[in-house]
Amino acid sequence: MRRAILTVLVDNKAGFGCVSEHGYALWIDAGEKRILLDTGQGTALAGNARALGIDLGLTDSLVLSHGHYDHTGALPLVLGAAPQARLHCHPGVTEPRYSVRDGQARDIRMPQASMRALNALPPNRLRWSGEPASLGAGMGLSGYIPRRTDFEDTGGPFFFDPHGHRADPIDDDQSLWIATDEGLVVCTGCCHAGLINTLTHLRGITGEGRIRAVIGGLHLGAASDERLEKTARALREMKPGLVVPCHCTGEAATAWLADHLDCEVRTGYAGMRLDTSAL
Ligand SMILES: [Fe+2]
Ligand SMILES: [Fe+2]
Repeated sequence: MRRAILTVLVDNKAGFGCVSEHGYALWIDAGEKRILLDTGQGTALAGNARALGIDLGLTDSLVLSHGHYDHTGALPLVLGAAPQARLHCHPGVTEPRYSVRDGQARDIRMPQASMRALNALPPNRLRWSGEPASLGAGMGLSGYIPRRTDFEDTGGPFFFDPHGHRADPIDDDQSLWIATDEGLVVCTGCCHAGLINTLTHLRGITGEGRIRAVIGGLHLGAASDERLEKTARALREMKPGLVVPCHCTGEAATAWLADHLDCEVRTGYAGMRLDTSAL
């Protein structure tokens, strides 16, 4: 079983001494292993890490939850600061992708500089796979998350093309798990696969049925009442002790979850720290 200290490094909200941006990054200090899950857009990571006393040069594994710009912008900075770090991502992370709303397309793919940094990595520094993976004893990655529920979707108008013809299922979305004595601590990026799909998959691949905590973006801003209701019902059955909505969850959805779950719901922010042994 694992103990880890989790620190939110980049988020849409920031605590004292940190800056905010629309993006997400989580630092996971598991003793001899240090993992960075996502990098944010790139404006907040380095300064927040400095303010929080975190040395990005110690990163052993850099994990991309998916390829959106607000999770991958500081990739060159991290790979440069930590020449030993291994990058873990799904092969789909470099796909072109757009958010298309009212006929207006916004390019939300990984920035060019990040793609160049990724492409320049030697094979031994890149794990490029959609399969589940171990990140050391008691920690791992979901890999591709099967879409099982009928009430969850990617959470937005996401497409591979700027005309909105080819829907992007965001198959590269993955989450990270840490096995603690009290069950899994699940760390999401944007959770485009859906939270219940994600938790169901992680229970299956780890064999651990208990969910201790969920922390990360849940992308529920555009969720229907039906989706929120069904998500809350499924979560109540899984009995997590703590949910920490971050980043793209949405203020209204966070408040709604706080009202409808039986567990503690704490809004995440850059600078928030959680010790998995004290949850
Ligand atoms: Fe995001
Ligand atoms: Fe995203």
